Amino acid sequence: MKKSLKKPSTPSRKKDHVDICLTEDVNYQDKTAGFELYEFVHNALPELNLKDIDTSVRFLKKDLYLPLMITGMTGGYKGAAEINGNLALVCEDKKLALGLGSQRQALEDDSQLESYTIVRKNAPTIPIIGNIGVAQVIKGLNIKRLQKLLDDIEADALAIHLNALQEAVQFEGDVNFQGALDGISRLVKKLKIPIIAKETGAGISYSVAKRLHDVGIQYIDVSGSGGTSWSAVESFRKHAGESSEDRNRLAKKFHNWGIPTTECIQQVSRIKKMTVIASGGIKDGSDIAKSIALGADMAGMARPLLKILMENGAHALGDEIDYIQKELKLAMFLTGSKNIKKLRKAEFTFKT
Ligand SMILES: Cc1cc2nc3c(=O)[nH]c(=O)nc-3n(C[C@H](O)[C@H](O)[C@H](O)COP(=O)(O)O)c2cc1C
Repeated sequence: MKKSLKKPSTPSRKKDHVDICLTEDVNYQDKTAGFELYEFVHNALPELNLKDIDTSVRFLKKDLYLPLMITGMTGGYKGAAEINGNLALVCEDKKLALGLGSQRQALEDDSQLESYTIVRKNAPTIPIIGNIGVAQVIKGLNIKRLQKLLDDIEADALAIHLNALQEAVQFEGDVNFQGALDGISRLVKKLKIPIIAKETGAGISYSVAKRLHDVGIQYIDVSGSGGTSWSAVESFRKHAGESSEDRNRLAKKFHNWGIPTTECIQQVSRIKKMTVIASGGIKDGSDIAKSIALGADMAGMARPLLKILMENGAHALGDEIDYIQKELKLAMFLTGSKNIKKLRKAEFTFKT
């Protein structure tokens, strides 16, 4: 006889995700984001002074130290306030953009509001991006409530995550994705801030990006495969009962599903006037440089930076951001790219 299983609450799921991401190997296996396939053509005559290289960009009407955001991870449970608070302090200090984890919990009740609002308190000047799942958009959102949550953090944009794979292998997942584009189209018209359509590690193709563009989306975070695998994360979650065995088996089987990040960048950047954020498996400043040369405007990192924060603290995360900037700067120097605009035109070769 099948047991009837109680679905875990939103806060306990969000805590599970962070814990698993810190303790288990949840990267794609035998599959990468593809950055190793591209190599910059070395410029032996850069005609630049390394000191003059400018890594800054403007994103969501604010100036950033380098084209990098920490993409949405957490919020909505006890413990998330400290993580988001520290991420915000580092991002404010280094002038990076910061995404919040899903605000679904705050749509349900007020109990964990501080885990979201702390971000604007600690980071008054940087771009902050709210976050909601497309499944919530499909089910029908209380727009007034959502707008209030976004106003509370003075959000510069809202990310809507498109996570069909994750939902499908999640025990308590929402598997009805019918009406997603209509829902997004309605939100584009109703919200006062831009919407960023993002995946959570399985990638966005040209044809999906085109459909999003046709309903008014001008920002896409490709979140391609090669970094954190959400199918892997879900496979580590434990639930009692028969159906959970099938779920975990399915999640393991689809561990490597998705479009590599380098492929997504090139596909999505074919769309004119689309701001492209390259994320999913970005490891360092060199990957950021390659992302820009492949067509992205910005890069995003999630789990690698969370691990540094949680294992070594906020100071270490700040140092890592400085190191990432150094790597990016050196790649720019050695390709003769004085600024990010010039880096877009840097020559590279494809290794077969
Ligand atoms: C602990 C954790 C929680 C996450 N939660 C969310 C979320 O709530 N909403 C979202 O859009 N993406 C979420 N993500 C996905 C990331 O934003 C990102 O798209 C993905 O992890 C790929 O980037 P990475 O390879 O740099 O980790 C989460 C990632 C991590 C590591």
